[in-house]
Amino acid sequence: MIRSVVRGTGQALPRRIMKNADFEGMVETSDEWIVQRTGIRQRHIASDDETTASLGEAAARAALANGGLTPDDIDLIVLATSTPNNTFPATAVEIQQRLGMRHGYAFDMQAVCSGFVYAVTTADAYIRAGLAKRVLVIGSETFSRILDWNDRSTCVLFGDGAGALVLEATEGAGTIADRGVLAASLRSDGTHKEKLYVDGGPSTTGTVGHLRMEGREVFKHAVGMITDVIEATFSQAGITAEDLDWFVPHQANKRIIDASAKKLGIAEEKVVITVDKHGNTSAASVPLALSIAAVDGRIKRGDLVLLEAMGGGFTWGAVLVRW
Ligand code: ACO
Repeated sequence: MIRSVVRGTGQALPRRIMKNADFEGMVETSDEWIVQRTGIRQRHIASDDETTASLGEAAARAALANGGLTPDDIDLIVLATSTPNNTFPATAVEIQQRLGMRHGYAFDMQAVCSGFVYAVTTADAYIRAGLAKRVLVIGSETFSRILDWNDRSTCVLFGDGAGALVLEATEGAGTIADRGVLAASLRSDGTHKEKLYVDGGPSTTGTVGHLRMEGREVFKHAVGMITDVIEATFSQAGITAEDLDWFVPHQANKRIIDASAKKLGIAEEKVVITVDKHGNTSAASVPLALSIAAVDGRIKRGDLVLLEAMGGGFTWGAVLVRW
């Protein structure tokens, strides 16, 4: 059977780093509060010349170089983002143009923090259906542009950045020993909309709006939802937590990551953590963490890697990949 195998990874971060101490004087907060509640110590914030498209392009170019590929080798771009450059056209098409691609096709996916998990699952379905051979799957966000910088309960949590993977159609035996995407489970439930949303949009206010979140409510649901989709993914693949080499969760909050890993019985040393350096970069957080752990040599060919995310909607999901 056809498997979607990871051929390359890449990442891009804005130049400017904002440390927790930089919020003091802007809103009533402290480094101690932010670190204790979230594990975040700093985040990257996009300057005026850095956008979702430019960061996504840089991550895509790095992933292509990492895989020894050029834009000519790609036939589809799927970009996970909730902070597109424009309402339309899709920012994926802008990235396609920036890469100099006049062939193939590109589109955006919007599932907020779960966007990358949704995008990998979609790209895998396109590859297995024979609709694409090599797909650039990108998560790129500039959440700094939709934050209310006077709201201390949200502005300290998010950052900007991008990560990318190239997935390539490869013949596999159809067993759990194959490389590539092996199992996935996606969920959404719109009854939770008011807990995490942006209070503007083209069809309602005609404005971009700002992120609003009832953090405590999101926290309450997060661990249960995350563990449900992970257990569904394990049972699809016929594995247990002990079979995993790496757990690469959405980087929203260290306490949510720790509680989920503990509930699932995933050893601490198998968990990739970047939330301390990047904050919550929404759809970019999983590919950023993946790329960092692959480039620094932690994630190796043949390793079994579990990706997971949960975010606005609510949306949530998990993907199992053999590297
Ligand atoms: N600095 C200091 N105090 C603060 C800050 C701050 N930055 N923000 C809030 N507080 C205060 C609150 O006002 C509250 O004060 P009160 O007790 O006087 O009312 C107190 O701190 C405690 O607030 P809580 O909201 O109960 O704090 P909690 O321990 O729940 O931590 C947090 C808040 C970090 C937001 C947490 O709830 C969380 O991480 N939630 C989940 C967020 C998440 O995972 N989102 C994922 C999806 S994101 C996406 O999809 C885009």
